Amino acid sequence: MALGHDAAGAARFTSLQVMTDTPVIPVIVLNDRAHAVPLAHALIAGGIRMLEVTLRTPAALACIEAIAREVPEAVVGAGTVRSAADAQAAVMAGARFAVSPGYTHGVGKACRDLGLPLLPGVATGSEIMAAHEDGYMALKFFPALQAGGLAMLRAWQGPFGDVKFCPTGGITASNAREFLALSNVVCVGGSWLTPAEAVVRGDWAAITQLAREGAALRRAR
Ligand code: 3PG
Repeated sequence: MALGHDAAGAARFTSLQVMTDTPVIPVIVLNDRAHAVPLAHALIAGGIRMLEVTLRTPAALACIEAIAREVPEAVVGAGTVRSAADAQAAVMAGARFAVSPGYTHGVGKACRDLGLPLLPGVATGSEIMAAHEDGYMALKFFPALQAGGLAMLRAWQGPFGDVKFCPTGGITASNAREFLALSNVVCVGGSWLTPAEAVVRGDWAAITQLAREGAALRRAR
């Protein structure tokens, strides 16, 4: 798939391209801006460049900004985008994609107005239809394990056969392959690549190893 470019020359991805780029999108929670750049380098060294930094901590936007500025090989996005204001702040910080835990038409419109690719979070057929109505065909299934896991994704293959998913929530190194084997799963998301203890310890080698294992997960296309 051809990529466009933004005004600064950075490659612009569609929501589907964000998902097809990687078998796993790391869901990152950072409390300290000082951890952002070394963590991004560690993930890149392991072969993972799509990085979702969740807007759950006071440091999140500064972390996105630092990665966007200092780690050009990374494609940093904002997670936990719950409002138009979150989307705006994410773009200002340099985020190149957004992930939301649910979906509203308002968040979708804000992201489209900003030119920000969005992976909208869905857990029901009605939510899939609402996101689809606004043009989204590449969705995050959240919380995947709690909301029906593999069985739910299989059930959606019938009525929503043209929709692709990134299941997130409860996915780990041990169950990721089962999800990736489904025809409607393009990638998975999860926090297991960036354990809080490893981040706090600055154990970047451990995170590179987890990223390497994540990057090696086979994906079904
Ligand atoms: C989240 O948004 O918290 C993600 O779904 C991460 O879930 P996990 O910690 O179960 O991977």
